[in-house]
Amino acid sequence: MTTDRVRIFDTTLRDGEQSPGIALNPQQKVDIAKQLARLGVDIIEAGFPVSSPGDFEAVQRISREVEGPVIAALARSNPVDIDTAWEAIKDAERPRIHTFLATSPIHMEHKLQMTEEEVLMAVKTSVARAREYTDDVEYSPEDATRSDVDFVIAVCQAAVEAGATTINIPDTVGFATPWDYGKLIERIVAEVKGDRDDVIISTHCHNDLGLAVANSLAGVKAGARQVEGAINGIGERAGNASVEEVVMAIRTRSDAFGGVEVGVNTSELYATSRIVSEYTGYPVQYNKAVVGRNAFAHESGIHQHGVLRKRETYEIMDPTAVGFSGSDIVLGKHSGRAAFRHALQRIGVELDETSFDRVFARMKQVADQSGIINDTRLRAIVDEVVSDSHVVEAINGMF
Ligand code: KIV
Ligand code: ZN
Repeated sequence: MTTDRVRIFDTTLRDGEQSPGIALNPQQKVDIAKQLARLGVDIIEAGFPVSSPGDFEAVQRISREVEGPVIAALARSNPVDIDTAWEAIKDAERPRIHTFLATSPIHMEHKLQMTEEEVLMAVKTSVARAREYTDDVEYSPEDATRSDVDFVIAVCQAAVEAGATTINIPDTVGFATPWDYGKLIERIVAEVKGDRDDVIISTHCHNDLGLAVANSLAGVKAGARQVEGAINGIGERAGNASVEEVVMAIRTRSDAFGGVEVGVNTSELYATSRIVSEYTGYPVQYNKAVVGRNAFAHESGIHQHGVLRKRETYEIMDPTAVGFSGSDIVLGKHSGRAAFRHALQRIGVELDETSFDRVFARMKQVADQSGIINDTRLRAIVDEVVSDSHVVEAINGMF
């Protein structure tokens, strides 16, 4: 079914936590899940319960303590995994079991040592078993993008007939290009059918070639109505599609996707990015789209002048729409007088024209040597250059 709503399936706590060096404790996972609920994602993949007692506990606590989103748990296609996943999520308001089994020749031969027939049978049996527990079951043909397409379609169709309600198409090793991935999704949407035509087709893209977001968006354009991703793009190896980038691309350019919608409270994106970064110890790169500290910073004089006159000259998103409230005009060696005046106003300092020129010249010298001038540094430069009699505090007691 192709509705106009794209569901956001957040796997920060499952695939995201599979990043090298990340190990969240159950309380940290609950805190992040609560923030994801505030963000308004549709589904939280809380973990892989059979993988460790700590993960089981975290998934169980999230199921009991977090309201709003569907809570999903991952399971391989075997009875123990599926039963354990159910045990962990059974108290959730809306539990989902997500089961997977690879369909690519390389995985079937070398990892699973299973034939195509055995894979088909295992998928039918495991989806049917999951369906005995809950009517919300997702199946993923792992490594779908390196699989024979007709075989993937046959396995996905068998999964749907056994009761799967979401079919997720993983680009497990980040191998696809947007055009291959879009074509694959188009075929799955056209050929995998349920009785009531209500199967949701989902994307799950890894970022090995830096294409995870582009591939996910190509999937949406081709009819996918669930996107899986992680906050800050964390995940196995180079990570997953970044949730904040997918959400803001669809919000900002919904015209490019036939008017589809996402139901996320985007003003929580920045806070969510920061809590994930703090708990995982993974920093957010300065120039990261949407949530990087420079995502809305303007340093060159020409850009600053434009933004001060009208933001839209150099900004396609409103920083407050993603919850960013920091300073957007950054003083550096490329900054011009308009930005400098703005920065002085921001720190509550008024200068006569002579002092303004002297402080501006000194700011440029300092910036040449040491980069960005923050508000504290600017204040120190003002104090250094002009005597108190030239400085009129517009706002007393600010500092
Ligand atoms: O990348 C992948 O194939 C996965 C599956 C378990 C969905 O993470
Ligand atoms: Zn993955």
